[in-house]
Amino acid sequence: MIDLRSDTVTKPTVGMRRAMVEANVGDDVFGEDPTALALQERIASLLGHETGLFVPSGTMCNQIALKVHTEPGDEIICEEDCHIVNYETGAIGALSGANVRTLRGTRGVLSAAQIEEAVRKGYYWEPRTRVLSLENTHNKAGGTIWPLETMTGAVQAAREHGLTCHLDGARLWNASVASGVALRTWASLFDTVSVCLSKGLGTPVGSVLVGSRDVIAKAHRFRKMFGGGMRQVGILAAAGLYALDHNVERLADDHANARRLAKGLSAMSRVRINADTVQTNIVMFDVEGGDAIDIVDRCRERGVAFVPFGPHTIRATTHLDVSASDIDEALSLVEPVLSA
Ligand SMILES: Cc1ncc(COP(=O)(O)O)c(C=O)c1O
Repeated sequence: MIDLRSDTVTKPTVGMRRAMVEANVGDDVFGEDPTALALQERIASLLGHETGLFVPSGTMCNQIALKVHTEPGDEIICEEDCHIVNYETGAIGALSGANVRTLRGTRGVLSAAQIEEAVRKGYYWEPRTRVLSLENTHNKAGGTIWPLETMTGAVQAAREHGLTCHLDGARLWNASVASGVALRTWASLFDTVSVCLSKGLGTPVGSVLVGSRDVIAKAHRFRKMFGGGMRQVGILAAAGLYALDHNVERLADDHANARRLAKGLSAMSRVRINADTVQTNIVMFDVEGGDAIDIVDRCRERGVAFVPFGPHTIRATTHLDVSASDIDEALSLVEPVLSA
């Protein structure tokens, strides 16, 4: 099976497993795991923030940040297709009791003017607008990268209204490698940033939330409350340190493979795709006259796994465990389904 469902399907390499076995560990609930501490500090420094917190998942990272930044009844502004609203099981309502105000973006990107307009005016009967939460790269928009200037303007607009700003940077690594913009240039715009190690970077588990010492101290408490306090977690953090050394620059290969896939798909008669819009490792395409679930099933029978992402929309994601020749093979396997 050539598995293009997600960049989370990768299996840790022998080198990564060896680093995990050899990790120096301690009880992290007591703050005594040297490998977790090293990973947190390394990522905080890469992202230009004071400190960081190792957390089991991207979802928990985002939800801890939103919990820290809001009180029940407060409002969070975000783009309508964002992960925190659509794929985190309604956690904002369940865990923070916050309202969300979703705005329609252009390929995941919002303008400063949209944000300005969405901020409540302060009448006591309104929710209080408190947070702007953005996503880079934007998953559902197809791995799109925010133009740096637009993101700077959006955050500036939010700041002018006293909002706290969070970035879901699950794939910020991809944005940085593809655009050449340093991680810290994006990340230092925000109060908190979550980054995932278990996606393009290929670790089995883990995300890191960065921010100021004060914010991360609050996050630490909520991590425990949400059940994310772990013990000899250095075994997992070691995979993260290994990934930072070995798996960041190579994301450029995933991006090239995504473009290769998009180009091949664009030649198939039933596929609707603009291959020029593929910026990172996610490829979204529509299939004319086809039900996405049925098409995905038929491709899977032929040995290629995608995910349905809408009635006619399918997502393919490239990653560490697929090569350029796997992409060519996948294209020839699905061609009879997508050209029929
Ligand atoms: C943009 C984005 N944010 C957050 C997450 C959540 O990560 P996790 O699956 O580790 O909870 C994902 C997962 O795919 C994602 O794509």
